[in-house]
Amino acid sequence: MRQVKTRQAAGESPVLNAPYSREALEALLARYGSPLLVVDCNVIRERYKALSEALPRVELHYALKPLPEDGVVRALAAVGASFDLATSGEVSLVKAAGISPDRCIHTHPIKKDSDIRDALRFGVRTFVVDNEDEIGKFVKHRTRAELLLRLSFPNPAAGADLSRKFGCTPGEASALLNLAARLGIKVRGLSFHVGSQVPDAAAHAHAVDACNEVLVEGRRTGAHPLDVLDIGGGFPTYSDGSEGERIGPFCAPIRAAIARLPQGIHVIAEPGRFLVGASAFCLTTVVGRSKRQGRWWYYLDDGVYGSFSGQIFDNTKYPIDSLKADEARFPSTLTGPTCDSIDIVREDILLPELEAGDVLMARAMGAYTSACATDFNFVPRARVLTVNQ
Ligand SMILES: Cc1ncc(COP(=O)(O)O)c(C=O)c1O
Repeated sequence: MRQVKTRQAAGESPVLNAPYSREALEALLARYGSPLLVVDCNVIRERYKALSEALPRVELHYALKPLPEDGVVRALAAVGASFDLATSGEVSLVKAAGISPDRCIHTHPIKKDSDIRDALRFGVRTFVVDNEDEIGKFVKHRTRAELLLRLSFPNPAAGADLSRKFGCTPGEASALLNLAARLGIKVRGLSFHVGSQVPDAAAHAHAVDACNEVLVEGRRTGAHPLDVLDIGGGFPTYSDGSEGERIGPFCAPIRAAIARLPQGIHVIAEPGRFLVGASAFCLTTVVGRSKRQGRWWYYLDDGVYGSFSGQIFDNTKYPIDSLKADEARFPSTLTGPTCDSIDIVREDILLPELEAGDVLMARAMGAYTSACATDFNFVPRARVLTVNQ
């Protein structure tokens, strides 16, 4: 039988006070089982507030993909967030959470007609395109949909350079805007994503300035009176969770570039990782151990096919430690539960001597972790528990 992720019952969200005591964590495991991914909505609300203050007057649409969880959507909705959707599954999630479609945009540049129709049926109006064929898909929906044109700004410095896959060049923009106008399709503005986990905001600022030129030219000729600029996501997290304090200075070049835009441009953003990355920790239990070439190998109930999938897909390493109080530590290896030899969570990690039943905690595991987990080997995925909702 296919194993599915167990979700908590609607409305059930325990209160958990940070810093979390060992007793509190063990109580969670006793109640909800292992492995467990605990998502703390207090952290998400703090990050939302920090980014709102760093980018005043920018409308923040949480990009669901890093952590598509009902409790996260509800917590963010309650503090005023809007949402960025990319699939029909994400449409269903926000709909079930009672989110108004007026607060949602659909930003996948390449869509099936069924994706477009599902989003339209829910009530979403704004979609993203980046080429002629995709614009053509909106001819039959032109009375109900309006578009953002996505531009590419290649950024090898990003953890994931999304412009390799999506976006037209700034030079192609005017021909695509003209095509949409000829087809009677309304284009409201421009969008970009300078890549996920960027080292600084130089790429954002450059992209805002490049879009500024397209916006000014469209307005000057009167051909394309665009009034929306979507600056995407990419805002980084750090393994020590310091992104909340660092986001203000980080965004300074973006604020300056936004201040150079013509009057009346409504700016929106699609943060994902930044809002949720620090919010979650994973509790995983030692299932068995083996001494190999003089070193302990610990076999856990979660691994790179599960919550640690971000080590493969997102090139991220998470801080991991044992719940055992400080004791003598030895170089050790942590592996996941599947039979695959790439399912190794960490080599050369200093740990106390562990045995079956001992628990490890990995932090900064909110973004692109459980979202990318698989059911390989029928190993059950970690249960996701939202606390402090
Ligand atoms: C269209 C779009 N918007 C937003 C995001 C979120 O990006 P990040 O998590 O870097 O903020 C992504 C990530 O892939 C994306 O593809």
